[in-house]
Order: sequence, then C-alpha cells, then structure tokens
Amino acid sequence: LAQSTSPDYRPQYHFTPPQNWINDPNGLVYYDGEYHLFYQHNPFGNEWGHMSWGHAVSPDLLHWEHLPVAIPEFTNPDTKAQTAIFSGSSMIDKGNKNGLCPTGTKDCMIAVYTGNVTKGDQQLAQYQNLAYSADKGRTWTQYAKNPIVDIGSKEFRDPNVFWYAPQQKWVMATVKATEHRVALYESKDLKNWQFMSHFGNVGDTTKVWECPALMPVPIQNEKGKSRWVLFISAGHPQADYVGMQYFVGTFNGKEFKLDPANPRPIAPSVMNVVDWGKDYYAAIQYNNLPTEQRGPVMIGWLNNWAYANHLPTTPFKGAMSLPRQISLKRTRTGLQLIQQPIEGVTRLRGDRRIQKILRLTNQSQPLDQTTSNAYELELEIVPGAAKTVGLKLAKGPKSETILQYTDGLLQLDRRRSGNVSFDKRFPSIEEAPVALQNGVLKLRIFIDKSIIEVFANNGERVITDQIFPNPATGDTPSGGIELFVDGGSAVFRNITRWTYK
Ligand code: FRU
Repeated sequence: LAQSTSPDYRPQYHFTPPQNWINDPNGLVYYDGEYHLFYQHNPFGNEWGHMSWGHAVSPDLLHWEHLPVAIPEFTNPDTKAQTAIFSGSSMIDKGNKNGLCPTGTKDCMIAVYTGNVTKGDQQLAQYQNLAYSADKGRTWTQYAKNPIVDIGSKEFRDPNVFWYAPQQKWVMATVKATEHRVALYESKDLKNWQFMSHFGNVGDTTKVWECPALMPVPIQNEKGKSRWVLFISAGHPQADYVGMQYFVGTFNGKEFKLDPANPRPIAPSVMNVVDWGKDYYAAIQYNNLPTEQRGPVMIGWLNNWAYANHLPTTPFKGAMSLPRQISLKRTRTGLQLIQQPIEGVTRLRGDRRIQKILRLTNQSQPLDQTTSNAYELELEIVPGAAKTVGLKLAKGPKSETILQYTDGLLQLDRRRSGNVSFDKRFPSIEEAPVALQNGVLKLRIFIDKSIIEVFANNGERVITDQIFPNPATGDTPSGGIELFVDGGSAVFRNITRWTYK
C-alpha cells in the first residue's frame, strides 16, 4: 500500500484502494474462486474524475488483492470524445454462449456499464455499453457495437444486470436519474435489449435516483420463500445528504410491483431507509455467488456525496462497507430488510475480552482500554427506565463518538469525533428508530480506524459513519470505550470485544 500521510485513518479490514479516489462498487461477481470488486476510480488523482473501473479480487470477501485498473476511460480517436466508465455490473456468460469472447474461451466475463460521453466541458451522452474479458477480468475489450442501450438521454445510467432463470434471460435495471424512475430491459444474448417496464416516482424523490439493484431476497424462517427487493440510491431522511432506500414487491420477469404493505403502509413519499448513517451508498449485489456463500451479498461505498471530495485522507479517498448478507424478516410492520456482515467476518476475530455484566446508575465507566482501534464489540443493553444509555467510542483526550439509545431512538453523534471541520456537512447526529426486543437492545459494532458500522437487533437497523479522530489535537484514534447511563440505571451484559486481525 502506498505510504499514507494519514496513517491512522486507513481502515484495516475494510477495503480501500492503494491510492487515489474511489466511489461506487461496480461489477461485483464471483468466478472460479475469486470475488471480484471493481469500483469507480480516478487513476490520476485523489478526487472524482477520469472515471475508470479499478479492480481487486478476494478469496473470502475480506482479504483483497489489488490489481491494475481494469477498464480505463477512453477517447474516440475520430471524434476526440471521451468515454468515462461509470457504474455497472458484471456477469458470467457460461460456456461463452453468446460468442462475445474469442472462440474457445471457456466462460466469458461481461461488464455492462454506463458510458458517460463528454467533449471538453460538454456532456454528450449517457448510455449503456458492454465490455468482455476472457482472462478473469484482468483485461477487457470494448464491444464493437456499443452502445447496447441508448435512449438519447444524458441522465440514464448504472445498469444492474442479473440472470432471470424462470425465463432463461438477462434482466437489466437502469435509472432515468432525474425522472426518479427505474427502466427494466430484457435480453437473451446480452447484446440486444428490449424495454419492458418502468417503476418509480415513489419513496424519496428529493435527489436523483442512482445505482438500482434488483434481486429476490429470502424471508427468514420461511423456507424457500422470498420477495423481490429493489434498492435505489437517492436521498436521505436528513435533507442535505444522499442515502439508500428499498422497495419490497414482486417481479414477474417483466414488471416490478410495489407491495405497499411491506415493510409498513408508508406514505408514498417516505423512504424505507437501508442504512441510517451517512456513509452507505451505491450498494449492489454479487452475481454468480458460489453455493457455500449465502446471499444476496451487497457491498456499498462508505461515503456521502455531501462531503466525499473533502475527506481528510491521503493518498486515498473512499472505502467500501463490509460485505453484507441480506434477508427479509416478518415483523409487526410487515417485511423488513435485515442486513448482517457476512458470517465469514468472524474469521478476522483475534484476541477476545469478555465482561459478563455491569449495572450502572447515573455514571460512566471505561471499558478495557486497548491500543487497537480495529475491533468488533458485541453487547446487550437493558435500558430499563433509564433516560439515556450508551457508549462513547474512539474516545481520546479531546474526541469521542457517542452511540446512545434514548426515547426509542438509536443515535450516533459524531459532532466531536475529531476532525469534523473539513466540510460543514460532516458533523452530524444519526438517528434510527429501534424497538427493544423483550426489553433488550443488541448491538454489534465494527470499529475500523475511521469507520463505524453498527448493526442493531440482529441487523434490523444499521448505522454506518466515518470518523476522523484528529492527531493534531492529541487524539490518536485509540480504542477508548466508555459505557454510560443517564437518568436512571441500566444493565450492560455479554460484552465481548475482539481485536481484528
Ligand atoms: C453514484 C454515481 C453513479 C455514476 C457514478 C459516477 O455514486 O453518481 O450514478 O454512475 O457515481 O462516478
């Protein structure tokens, strides 16, 4: 990895690029022992620009090997127009049935992405292109008959392509970003695409719609049952930010239909939030998962467009979330999205410390101190009648990040988390409604230098945020943890912390 001038900020077990800017995960696909992670990348700088697909592979979705840029931005030699490689997806054409790869290629890896065409300052087009690779994603060739889908728009992007087995065809979900609509297409050969239907103008329409992801999601405890879920990157419950929403419904191969009872009868304008923090966006699912990995598995960009270009990290900017295994759960308010880190993360667990039970009354108490700030912390809180109960995380002499439960809300307050001044929209408090389960709040917290991912009540609510404890003010991001209770007494139990390898 390139030498970092902000070494305390580079996460240890979350993906970051060796250097330069990244945004959305792209082309998530498994093939022949490798999980591929392509991503929006600027090979030339530490801010957005020159969009290309960067590339890494992993045997387990946790340990990544960095590879050279896979699909670079290119220039048309005749028109001099530039095509940037915007977001999209990858799939495997088993047996090279569509003959895109050279004859004799066993299986052909395909990338379907948005070509964002510009000339100078002028944007000329946004359409869907195809590229193929006969060597496991290392080198790519642009399809000679690009674009494969062009509607003459400049706001038409982020193709999410998957195999629809019941009708033996490929389906593509794209967005008409400024119309807040998803457009669905079908194809038998990945080259010729037919329009099928639109879905949209529901949920959040305050921001452009980006990065659709459509997939069947299993329902917990209902063997063999699933529902289709459509994820959209759009607005956030807090107006100045972007975030993700989801819709639960049915898909008959042609149309996605919203089931308005799930997760609950929400007003059409209210979004079902995927992650209640500020730093989870543009997540898509893996294609072609191996049978030993339960799915769907999604990875998101751990950032927010509100301040992404200003993060105080060099020589890289941007990280990916832990891979999340998703499911649906039947609750009193209908089918609810559940997100959990993939089960494999427990293989990263190193030293373990356990504290069985602690009762605190209007007081705070430090938990074991550690020099490591890459760890997982699991605990149960019984708030009882206490007004506020919680934890101070990444606590240094001058900084702390507060995770607390009060009035039925789980809050993450990063206003004093360290360097928050690089962008006025960075300091913030996140807030998620969480119902106790039999009086208990279960938390699973992942801290990784500049990242906090909180999974509450077995993944019913997730809050993901970045923090930048500031060494300039004496705050090295230590593993400082403090428990506290205000306005009564509460119990903390089964507190377990694992240092991460
Ligand atoms: C989402 C997004 C996509 C686009 C890409 C460009 O973060 O805006 O809609 O394809 O980033 O980098």
